[in-house]
Amino acid sequence: MPATSVIGLQWGDEAKGKVVDLLAEKHDVVIRYQGGNNAGHTVRFGGNTYKLSLLPTGVLQSHVQSVIGPGVVINPEAILKELDSLIAGGIDCAERLMISDRAHVICPWHLLEETAFEKQRGNKAIGTTMRGIGTCYREKVGRFHAIRMGDLINKDRFVDKVREIVPFKQMILNALDPDSEQLIADQIIEDYSASADRLRPMVTDTTAWLLNALENDRRLLFEGAQGSLLDVDHGTFPYVTSSNSSGCGIHSGSGIPERAIGTMIGVAKAYTTRVGGGPFPTEQDNHIGEQIRNAGHEFGTVTGRARRCGWFDAVATRYSARISGVDSIAVALLDVLSGLGDLQVCEAYQINGKVTRDLPSCPDALQAAKPVMRSVPGWGEDITGVRNFHDLPTNAQQYVQTISELVERPVQLLSVGPDRDQTIVMLTLPGF
Ligand code: GDP
Ligand code: IMO
Ligand code: MG
Repeated sequence: MPATSVIGLQWGDEAKGKVVDLLAEKHDVVIRYQGGNNAGHTVRFGGNTYKLSLLPTGVLQSHVQSVIGPGVVINPEAILKELDSLIAGGIDCAERLMISDRAHVICPWHLLEETAFEKQRGNKAIGTTMRGIGTCYREKVGRFHAIRMGDLINKDRFVDKVREIVPFKQMILNALDPDSEQLIADQIIEDYSASADRLRPMVTDTTAWLLNALENDRRLLFEGAQGSLLDVDHGTFPYVTSSNSSGCGIHSGSGIPERAIGTMIGVAKAYTTRVGGGPFPTEQDNHIGEQIRNAGHEFGTVTGRARRCGWFDAVATRYSARISGVDSIAVALLDVLSGLGDLQVCEAYQINGKVTRDLPSCPDALQAAKPVMRSVPGWGEDITGVRNFHDLPTNAQQYVQTISELVERPVQLLSVGPDRDQTIVMLTLPGF
């Protein structure tokens, strides 16, 4: 049974949560395979809003088995808090959740180091979510002093590791900041051991389980976090996250071969947003950006920060669609553009006098890129109640067609509001 995957095509927050939730109905397993609690995926149905950070969006559906793969970094306290808040809301999903014993653990020193590093970077700060994501991934790649979930649930091994690591980390923290917080090994062991006791029943070899599930024709759905432009290898480095958030992260983060993916859907907003630092060629740091931010409630799900807003960037989105190999796109938040007047879409960049449709690899070149805009007539009507493409105002139809043409991918679905049913299906969804 070929698997399905959902990938963000911009700088995150494209409405991946909504799309995964829609697809989860016809899938058996939903898998998170990279990132951590830097993600914030929102799902709305039945008058309720759910914000998921570390847990796969499938936890909301009782027929779905949820898996957190080897490529995810896990803050034990954060995942338990999230589980508890779902349980308090009547969704007891712990029995349907599996966590890879290969996934790495975010420890208190990762959070402290990140604070110190961001401070050192000054005006070059990445503007991270301060969840210890990058510092935990650095530990994993460095292999020294890394702790995996398999170590966390083995009490003796965990205690030995913490006792070895803490003095070393304290030395680094003191050098970075003489006023740095002191790490207390006994306290860390006590806190993390309490979390480990609760997480132990969920921790397993998810790779073996997923490979069997694939061979047994279970329908797998991969849920990407962040967006392709935040990918550590292919995104707008160094203003990126520390994992492979484009399509190339699925295999490394889950252990499932790339060729098992049958359908890859890329999610893009009908405009562009970005949280944190880094170049953003179509940014509208003006009344237009303000209007989009207000209409789209563009404030971070995780940190509450105001998101930077701008026009749809077809150069960046086409690049993402190509590197992630997406078959089709889901265009979300189209309703936000109602009443904005004429709209702009970036179809090329002009960099040092040269026009290109390729995303430059160098941040300075992207910073210097002047967007070549195509003007598309806007529409004034409220479209949140529309459920059929041909009932959309003609200009909205034309806008969607322009995006599809410039990104060179067919549109699979359109989202015209946050609710599950505020959706226009253009091409039959995988599994349906
Ligand atoms: P994700 O990280 O990609 O899952 O996206 P987020 O959940 O961080 O951000 C998307 C936001 O847009 C959430 O608040 C959603 O509830 C909301 N949303 C999703 N689709 C639509 C839509 O079509 N229209 C509007 N107005 N809001 C939407
Ligand atoms: P979802 O899954 C939007 C951004 C941060 C920062 C950069 C690095 O909800 O789309 P990190 O904490 O990962 O080291 O921060 O990446 N970022 C996101 N932006 N949506 C996200 O996730 C993000 N996860 C990280 O704002 O610029
Ligand atoms: Mg988000």
